[in-house]
Amino acid sequence: MDQNREILNKYKDHFTRINEELDRGLSSRVALIEDIANHTLLGQGKRLRPLLFVLACRLCNYHGEDAYRISTIFEYVHASSLLHDDVLDNADTRRKKPSANHLWGNHAAVLEGDFLYSKASTIAVETDSLPFMRRVTDTTMQMTEGQILELTYTDDWKIGKKEYMEIITAKTAVLISAACACGAILSQAGEEVEKSLERFGRNVGIAFQLMDDVLDYTSSEEMFGKPVGKDLKEGKITLPLIYTLLKLEESERKRFADLFKNDRATEHDYRNLTGLVRTNGALDQIRDEAQVYVDEAASCLTSFPDSPAKRNLLELNQYIIDREY
Ligand code: IPE
Ligand code: IPE
Ligand code: MG
Ligand code: MG
Ligand code: MG
Repeated sequence: MDQNREILNKYKDHFTRINEELDRGLSSRVALIEDIANHTLLGQGKRLRPLLFVLACRLCNYHGEDAYRISTIFEYVHASSLLHDDVLDNADTRRKKPSANHLWGNHAAVLEGDFLYSKASTIAVETDSLPFMRRVTDTTMQMTEGQILELTYTDDWKIGKKEYMEIITAKTAVLISAACACGAILSQAGEEVEKSLERFGRNVGIAFQLMDDVLDYTSSEEMFGKPVGKDLKEGKITLPLIYTLLKLEESERKRFADLFKNDRATEHDYRNLTGLVRTNGALDQIRDEAQVYVDEAASCLTSFPDSPAKRNLLELNQYIIDREY
């Protein structure tokens, strides 16, 4: 068994409960909605966001039985964002299977994403907590802003680290942060605790997307379960490329930008540039930066007394950097 699986296997009882709740919530009178939901949600998927929510609840001493049902909000929102993301990224594989847009087309995939967002809101309403609902709706708004911001920077080879960080914080870190903060909100643990968990999740989330963007250059589709090398092909200028471009001569930078922006890059140019990204030290630099976010996340939990939930959160935090998929 690989090391990633071994870590996640520790949480299999949580995953079983989360999956039962997800399964329960997927009914609709429209058969196609159920088909796409079953295909998209059941089976693969690390369930990291609902797990973080459940552990955050435990950290705050919340033991209500509804924690698992409520945790599905974060998987529904996530799955919905993946449905939309695969349309934006022209991706034909997701979670080791053909993507929904590939099987059913963009129209159905986008509408299914809308359905799952609404499903998440319906469950959020069940909490009867306005702060909880506000957090969930603020989150989906910011995630959409992040994706649209990324869209506006497509093929923009002048994008800098500042803009990149703004994008990844909004599109990815905000949801992981909300999953953690909502554990405190549901537990009524108070503002300080909520802030600590929110900061913990934001740092975890930033590290998570930094590593996702590294893995796009280093992993294989078999391991990652989704296309690799796709960011460059789709004009997504992520940090590995931003750092690489900074190391190139101005003329070389311009030459690559011109080739890729105008769809004139050959397979050779593509291999050449990805080869540079892999070998010029940019990826190690990003791994080190991700570790700084992981350390910062860990420091957000120092005020909590030692407990199994705290140890679990710290372990998952470190797993973010070590993961291979
Ligand atoms: C993928 O998230 C999307 C990103 C934010 C990078 P995950 O890597 O958590 O995807 P699943 O849920 O395991 O498929
Ligand atoms: C994450 O970015 C997008 C979402 C937050 C949905 P990516 O586009 O890199 O995600 P993957 O690599 O397709 O999972
Ligand atoms: Mg994508
Ligand atoms: Mg994307
Ligand atoms: Mg990616």
